Amino acid sequence: WVRMMTAQTPTNIAVIKYWGKRDETLILPVNDSISVTLDPDHLCTTTTVAVSPSFEEDRMWLNGKEISLSGGRFQSCLREIRRRAGDVEDREKGLRIGKSDWEKLHLHIASFNNFPTAAGLASSAAGFACLVFALAKLMNAKEDQSQLSAIARQGSGSACRSLFGGFVKWIMGNDKDGSDSLAVQLAHDKHWDDLVIIIAVVSSRQKETSSTSGMRESVETSLLLQHRVKEVVPKRIVQMEEAIKNHDFASFAQLTCADSNQFHAVCLDTCPPIFYMNDTSHRIINCVEKWNRLEGTPQVAYTFDAGPNAVLISRDRKAAVQLLQRLLFYFPPNSDTDLNSYVIGDKSI
Ligand code: DP6
Repeated sequence: WVRMMTAQTPTNIAVIKYWGKRDETLILPVNDSISVTLDPDHLCTTTTVAVSPSFEEDRMWLNGKEISLSGGRFQSCLREIRRRAGDVEDREKGLRIGKSDWEKLHLHIASFNNFPTAAGLASSAAGFACLVFALAKLMNAKEDQSQLSAIARQGSGSACRSLFGGFVKWIMGNDKDGSDSLAVQLAHDKHWDDLVIIIAVVSSRQKETSSTSGMRESVETSLLLQHRVKEVVPKRIVQMEEAIKNHDFASFAQLTCADSNQFHAVCLDTCPPIFYMNDTSHRIINCVEKWNRLEGTPQVAYTFDAGPNAVLISRDRKAAVQLLQRLLFYFPPNSDTDLNSYVIGDKSI
C-alpha cells in the first residue's frame, strides 16, 4: 500500500523584516516580523508526501530532481512531525498505521514550485511550510496551525508565516526552546481586498549571499542591527498592526518602505557589506518615491528581500495599472535595464 497527501502553500512577503537569529539551530529570530501571504495561484509550492512499507529510505525530489535530505533543517522538521504523529486508519485500503509505526516507515516527497527557484523569490518559505503541512496531514499530527508554524520555522524562519493566509505576525518569543516562537494570523485573507501585489523581476540570478549567512554576518558585525532590534522594530510592529487593522494605506506604505530601506542599510552596515539591490532596484525606488510625492498620498509601497527584485504593493487596482504603465515607460522591455518580467502576485488578503 501507499498513503499519499498533497498540499499547496503560497509564499509570503515580509513588510516588517526578519533579519538576524538569536539561535541558529532552532531558528529563533531577534525581532518580530509581519508579512502578507500571496494568493496561492501565483507563487506557491505544491508538495506530495507518500508513505509505504516498501520505501527503504526517506527521499525527496524538488522540481523533478532528487535532492539530499541530510540537511539539519529537513531532519528537524521530519523529527518534530514524526514525534507528533497520530494513528491513521484508512478503511478503504484496510490500512491501520499506529502512532509508533511512523518511526519505522519511510517517506517519499515530491515538491514543485510554480515559479523559478533561482529567481530569488522566497522559495524556502513556501517550501518548508508546505512540507510540514503535508506531513502533518499524512501522519495525522493533531497540532493547530501555530504549532505547525513553529515546526516550519525550524526549516526556514520565514516559512512559519506561510502557514496562514492574510496578514501574519511571527512572534519572536522568549523561551530558550523556541516553543513560543510562532506565527499568528493578524487579519484574514479578505480583510484588505483592495491591495494588489506586483513583483518586478529585476534579476533571475541566484543571490550571491544567502539570507542565512547574510543575517549571521549582520548579527556579528552590524551596530545598526542592534539599534533596529531594540529601538525601531518594536514600535513599527505596533504601528503596522494598527495600519493593517484600519486599512490605513499611507501608514502601511510608509512603514513598509522604511523597513525595507533599513534592512538594506543593515546589510550595508555589515562587514563585509552585503549588496542585495542593484541599480535597477534603486531606480524603481526613485520612481515610486517620486510618484507618491507627486500624488500627495502614497499609491504604492515597495519592499525588497535578499535580492534585487521589487515587491510593489498598490493601494488598489487603478494604482496597480498606473504602476505597470509607469514601469513599462521607465523600464521599456529589452532596454539596457534588466527589468523584463512581472509577476502579478495578487495577495490572498
Ligand atoms: C529578507 O527565512 O530565508 O526574506 O531562516 O535562514 O532560512 P532562514 O532565512 P530566511 O530569511 C528571510 C529574510 C528576508 C526577510 C523576511 O522574510 O522576513
